[in-house]
Amino acid sequence: MAKRMLVLALIAVLAIGALPTVSAQDGGDVWCGTDEPVTITFIAGTVGGEHEVYAALAERFMAEACPNVTVKVVERPESTTETLAQYQQFFEGQSAELDLFMVDVVWPAMIAEHLVDISEYADDELLSRFYPAVLDAYTVEGRLVAFPWFAGGGMLYSRTDLLEKYGLEIPQTWDELAATAKTIQDGERAEGNANFWGFVFQGSPYEGLTCDALEWQVSSGGGRILSPEGVIEVNDPASIEIFDQVASWVGDIVPPDVLSYTEEESRAVWQAGNAAFMRNWAYAYTLGQADDAVIKDKFTVTPLPGKEPGMSAATLGGWGIAVSKYSANTEAAVAFANWLTEYDALVEFHLARGEQPVLPALYEDAELQEALPYLAFTSDILESATPRPGVAGTQYAAVSEAYYTAVNEVLAGNKAAATAMGDLELALADLGFELP
Ligand code: GLC
Repeated sequence: MAKRMLVLALIAVLAIGALPTVSAQDGGDVWCGTDEPVTITFIAGTVGGEHEVYAALAERFMAEACPNVTVKVVERPESTTETLAQYQQFFEGQSAELDLFMVDVVWPAMIAEHLVDISEYADDELLSRFYPAVLDAYTVEGRLVAFPWFAGGGMLYSRTDLLEKYGLEIPQTWDELAATAKTIQDGERAEGNANFWGFVFQGSPYEGLTCDALEWQVSSGGGRILSPEGVIEVNDPASIEIFDQVASWVGDIVPPDVLSYTEEESRAVWQAGNAAFMRNWAYAYTLGQADDAVIKDKFTVTPLPGKEPGMSAATLGGWGIAVSKYSANTEAAVAFANWLTEYDALVEFHLARGEQPVLPALYEDAELQEALPYLAFTSDILESATPRPGVAGTQYAAVSEAYYTAVNEVLAGNKAAATAMGDLELALADLGFELP
């Protein structure tokens, strides 16, 4: 009995000791979680130079904040779908090899049981720096399973130099996008660039296509895959029409290879100067504005088109930083995640990486506003963007897989959208969701 009390007291002391009271930006001591020398491993990266940015931040943490903590940054697969599969293997083995995981905003319900409840280490005051909506996104049954890190929303990238050359405007509707893309493509090909395409996006059967296709549906007045109540929303005339329309672009204004494009393949075409328009996340902005980029200062970003002007939709994306329940260095891991998601480190992150902040204060930061002009139209992203269906819960990956597989089939011309959406509706009903 006495021994048990002692253990409990020890746990209490450790827990209180672990509660951070000061943070780096207050000019106070940095909370490192431990004074002992420890090594923690963070799995993150790798889309478009991501790894270098994280490695540089880890170096700064070790040099300036917590020299006793060695942070190793290891790479995840580029595709979020493959990343989840890899993480699930690690979790199954309950391995202590990885301490910190970069986690997609759509995963918390599926992996929560393997993650530490951050709110046991960081108090409400410390967490109040984040938008409440984004804390909610990483909260599963009352447990906060990740520090929010950055957000994202689909955006339209347009080549302003080419719009000017052909006397055209940034498209507001999908019909305008198709017509504008065609004119520019015809013109550029006539001038000798046989590799030029009108529009690129993410068409590979993976999570990214779920994001693009959800935007097509919602911006056309169609459904949201599942309603918040769990009713299936894929088989409606507006959704069918836009899916058929996008499919008709493949091979015409969209490269046939789009069927296997993730973010990086579409950016490769765009960044080589070979596309008039691209749908992508905001990471492609900073890369396109790099000093050696051929498209530097020749493009802009705006909300995506819709069926009618103003009907734009952006799928809510983003990532958080989670600590594994199987970590042997929980406090140091939480401390590093906390440091990475504080104001100063986030400014460095966003300047290098673009993306969208999860701290309201960062939208007011003059340096960021200057470097990332899209902040002006995305400051309400966490409220206005379309979330992927949270109601799917632990079934999210299965729902998304059924959805992106069906949409990819339509893009490939294997099935008409009406057939594909009818089949998908039944497949989602088999997963337990309600028919409309
Ligand atoms: C981006 C988004 C993420 C999404 C993924 C799809 O990384 O931030 O939420 O799932 O793209 O490819």
